[in-house]
Amino acid sequence: MLLPLAILLATVGPAPAQTPPAPPLDVVVYYEALCPDSRHFVVEQLAPAWRRVGAAVLAPSFVPWGKATANATDAGPSVTCQHGPEECWGNRLHACVIYDTRTTDARLEAVTCLMADYETLNATAPGCVRAAGLDWETVSRCAVSDVSLEKELEFGRRTQALQPPLTSVPTITLDGSQDGQAAMLADLLFYVCETWARKTGHTPEGCGPR
Ligand SMILES: *[C@@H]1O[C@H](CO)[C@@H](O)[C@H](O)[C@H]1NC(C)=O
Ligand SMILES: *[C@@H]1O[C@H](CO)[C@@H](O)[C@H](O)[C@H]1NC(C)=O
Repeated sequence: MLLPLAILLATVGPAPAQTPPAPPLDVVVYYEALCPDSRHFVVEQLAPAWRRVGAAVLAPSFVPWGKATANATDAGPSVTCQHGPEECWGNRLHACVIYDTRTTDARLEAVTCLMADYETLNATAPGCVRAAGLDWETVSRCAVSDVSLEKELEFGRRTQALQPPLTSVPTITLDGSQDGQAAMLADLLFYVCETWARKTGHTPEGCGPR
């Protein structure tokens, strides 16, 4: 079947351009669990943009660490977080949720839910976690175990590898670049739509008037 088709196409001239679909924009959020600017970005920018353009255009992922530091001690690595020990607990809870959710949609909605009411994290977290299809007992045990410490230290290494180095939280990368930082923080949907249009020549459906 393939050969005659190829001959047919060859005889009727060039086939219409069949470019494979472009991969979605890889948006990584470097953030902290108890950070007001991180909350603003996730709740007011990222989640709405995601709901508009979806997985074909946007591939969000999360790195909860920010300005935390890890120090070696005799008892093993010890992490200090910008907003104190409560934030370290929050970051590790986020780490478990990020790794355990099976779909981008569940992950994004869970992180958004955890950020939305972080002042009352312990009261709201079980509902956020269950809404993402996860078991609260499992996730809360993970958050106080070495498993989440290891995941956090990996997030720390990724954050410390940023070039240029992270100076404010959140920091966003799009396809590995921090270019357009202010524009992304101010209006992610607009930035994503422009970038996608430039990359593919098409404006995503969700980019229309809001
Ligand atoms: C860890 O080291 C950083 C600086 O490298 C310091 O600011 C922080 O207080 C230290 N934390 C602990 C728990 O010693
Ligand atoms: C929230 O739960 C964690 C883990 O059980 C605990 O370490 C932390 O102190 C709690 N925070 C508050 C504000 O109760």
